[in-house]
Amino acid sequence: MDLAPVITVDGPSGVGKGMVTRWLSSQTGYHRLDSGALYRILALASVEQGIPLEEVDAVAALAKNLDIQFVGETEDDESILVIGNDWTRRVRTEETGALASRIAVAPAVRAALLQRQHDFRRWPGLIADGRDMGTVVFPDAVLKLFMDASPEERATRREKQLRNAGIAVNFAALCQEIRARDARDRGREVAPLKPADDAHLIDTTGLSPDEVIHCVKALLEASR
Ligand code: DC
Repeated sequence: MDLAPVITVDGPSGVGKGMVTRWLSSQTGYHRLDSGALYRILALASVEQGIPLEEVDAVAALAKNLDIQFVGETEDDESILVIGNDWTRRVRTEETGALASRIAVAPAVRAALLQRQHDFRRWPGLIADGRDMGTVVFPDAVLKLFMDASPEERATRREKQLRNAGIAVNFAALCQEIRARDARDRGREVAPLKPADDAHLIDTTGLSPDEVIHCVKALLEASR
């Protein structure tokens, strides 16, 4: 049987991939994969089990068998269960993002998560967001988007998002963390953050969420 179609949404942290992914999923009825959450969960689970993040083979082994469930469909009712425990909030913190970015440089870890990401590909289709969805994980995607925005703008949006979720933040530290994470994600040797050759680039700096969706809508319609 043919493989289900995939739409990929790549870009740095805090650029609005989640919003675009949810919108695309609501329009198409496709499933969703938040690949960053897999890296975040794996980093947290490693720390929890006393595995040093440098021991990449042990981290990769954990990736293969870890019981992870994404429950719910909307931003409000979504939760992440790891071995049956609710990790929804812990997974989203900046500290967890920084841990995730550290294990994400290891080829063994990326290879271990590859199959888990492919397993999300089911009919009627999949919207996958991350860093390397269009370049490495789903190179045969029918539509590839690459979103970007200045680090300051992303820090401002992230601050708002975290505050709304009741998580306290320090803006200067957030900006610095975003820059450091960008450098790691763009500079790593394996699957660095970069647009696929056939990706559509969307610079969202200065655009409202509605303007971004307007742009994505046009690209979705053109791809059909
Ligand atoms: O999108 P995010 O902030 O949840 O991702 C957390 C980290 O995981 C990010 O800094 C890099 C890594 N990541 C990755 O290397 N490849 C992906 N496809 C998704 C995330």
